[in-house]
Amino acid sequence: MNKSGKVSQLAKDDWNIQLDAHGRLKHFLTIEGLGTEILNTILDTAESFASVNDQHVKKVPLLRGKTIANLFFEASTRTRNTFELAAKRLSADVLNINISTSATSKGESLLDTLQNLQAMQCDMFVVRHADSGAAHFMARHVAEHVSIINAGDGCHSHPTQAMLDMFTIRRHKGADFGGLRVAIVGDILHSRVARSQIHALNTLNTGDVRIIAPTTLIPAEVENMGVSVFNDMDEGIRDADVIIMLRLQKERMQGALLPSEAEFYQLYGLTERRMQRAKPDAIVMHPGPINRGVEIESSVADGSQSVILNQVTYGISVRMAVMSMVLGREAAAMEAEA
Ligand code: NCD
Repeated sequence: MNKSGKVSQLAKDDWNIQLDAHGRLKHFLTIEGLGTEILNTILDTAESFASVNDQHVKKVPLLRGKTIANLFFEASTRTRNTFELAAKRLSADVLNINISTSATSKGESLLDTLQNLQAMQCDMFVVRHADSGAAHFMARHVAEHVSIINAGDGCHSHPTQAMLDMFTIRRHKGADFGGLRVAIVGDILHSRVARSQIHALNTLNTGDVRIIAPTTLIPAEVENMGVSVFNDMDEGIRDADVIIMLRLQKERMQGALLPSEAEFYQLYGLTERRMQRAKPDAIVMHPGPINRGVEIESSVADGSQSVILNQVTYGISVRMAVMSMVLGREAAAMEAEA
């Protein structure tokens, strides 16, 4: 995005701005360009925070004195609240900016909002925005010591969601992704979650990644992403270990991409009957919000193979891991030099 707010194509160089000169995470903008080692470090760090979250007093002093601002220009339930809880459990001070009552509604630009919040000495911004590239734009314009975490930009990227999904898979299926068949089903075209998941699954060397959707909901770029594409759901989920369902993102759809919700459910809905085709111990995932009876049958969403609410819980540990890695960089550097 440039200063007038126009979205431009993300250049490959942009991936690199999230790492410092030592290869440590400075911002967390996208999974692209990150290696297996850094993804595994996020997962291992999240594992250590999971025990904090199980304690009676769910708090550690790691980010005491740091200020984190949540800047959500799009609706959110799970992501915004788990970021807030994660920051509070790390003892940071948290500002939740309500965009509908902020000066954005009076015409203030993203850059001006950012500069004003920076003048309040914020150390980190967690941002969700409808424009692809918004988080990269902010990362390019903040002061050197300030970090940006992408909480979802347009259809482009949602890296912390992908990492909590990888954490969920690892918890339930083990760390060897090589032996897994993972099926991602539904509105891939508008899904920043699916794009980030595919990058993360590929980086962790997943054996078989499958995309299942009607042709109108498959973006052209998946051809170069090393996944197999299925239009037939029954065929696509056969013997899957992990099934990830996605919501139809109607707010991002222009024109008629679907005949009707009823027909979509008939062809791509995850029903108990369809579950029979996956492995008997397959897990069912969904980033939420779920639309019961549109992409998933209620009894499957609430069933014994569903880990949808576990994903929400794990989101806190994973976000604690990312925030502590990004803001704990200086401490880590000092420790390494000592
Ligand atoms: C997703 C998002 O906002 O990209 N939800 C989430 O972050 N948990 C998916 C969606 O909105 O369907």
